[in-house]
Amino acid sequence: MADSSEKLSSTTWTLTTMPPIEEATFKKWQDLLEDRIGLSLPAHRKSFLQTSLGSRMREIGCLSYEDYYSRVNSGTKGLIEWSVLVDRLTVQETRFYRDIDALDLVKDYVLTRPIEQLKKTPIEAWSVGCSSGEEPYSLAMLLTECMNTLGLRNYFGITGTDISKPALEKARAGVYPSRKLVTLEAGLKEKYFDPHEKPGFFVLKKVIKERVGLSRVNILELGNAPMHGMNIIYCQNVLIYFRKWRRKEIISRLAERLVPGGLLILGQGEIVDWEHPDLQRVKNDKALAFIRRPDKN
Ligand SMILES: C[S@@+](CC[C@H](N)C(=O)[O-])C[C@H]1O[C@@H](n2cnc3c(N)ncnc32)[C@H](O)[C@@H]1O
Repeated sequence: MADSSEKLSSTTWTLTTMPPIEEATFKKWQDLLEDRIGLSLPAHRKSFLQTSLGSRMREIGCLSYEDYYSRVNSGTKGLIEWSVLVDRLTVQETRFYRDIDALDLVKDYVLTRPIEQLKKTPIEAWSVGCSSGEEPYSLAMLLTECMNTLGLRNYFGITGTDISKPALEKARAGVYPSRKLVTLEAGLKEKYFDPHEKPGFFVLKKVIKERVGLSRVNILELGNAPMHGMNIIYCQNVLIYFRKWRRKEIISRLAERLVPGGLLILGQGEIVDWEHPDLQRVKNDKALAFIRRPDKN
């Protein structure tokens, strides 16, 4: 049987207005998105879903939300389409040195480590939900600066993970328009970026890029993620899109990946009135952070 896409001519699809999404179909999409990527879409966000699905469906000439639902659920082709859709539905807004107060905490944490320990074991940091790379690269610049202050060589590694393939591709390219660099601390642009051949763009220098490894990880599937023994886990502006019970689950999974004494940084207000037996809240009014308690035994 021909699906709706085959009935459309290429000249008509761009002009097509999508019909409103029916309640039962909306519920199916809500469940799928919450199950697979934790995205919770309450009733008032129905029009957002409609617009996002509609714009993608028009691009591929698909007229029915039901057909599109089947498409993203069918085999390998479905997986490819799913990853395009996820990219459209998630917010990738980010910038360099986005949260100075949180970065100051990281800096204090590193600068107050015993030097012998820093020489012996490299610092491992993880940016969870790293988008197009500004966050892990900011951490890499900060840690490089810390190591310079301590007179140590660059003995650290950063992992950046995200669910969005296009965002990770941008991170891998390490090329940013100049407007993205305005929030950098003074001097860092000159030190860590070169002008790109494309006017108005800058490319990250190797010394920072080579410190960061990037991979695709769904935060709902942390059980399959190989990251462990982290000294610093930095997860900001990701949990806000999840329900509260899920945030607690995710934070608990992240806590397991920290070494005792490791630092977990979240976004301000992303979890309130919550305690975890293995995590101790860091006293700080401007940043939300926890230290993993020593193991009991
Ligand atoms: C608003 S950005 C935050 C970027 C960066 N952490 C910052 O604070 O600037 C949110 C990121 O979370 C990612 N994300 C959303 N759902 C995810 C999931 N289930 N697993 C992994 N990453 C996810 C998005 O792709 C996006 O890049």
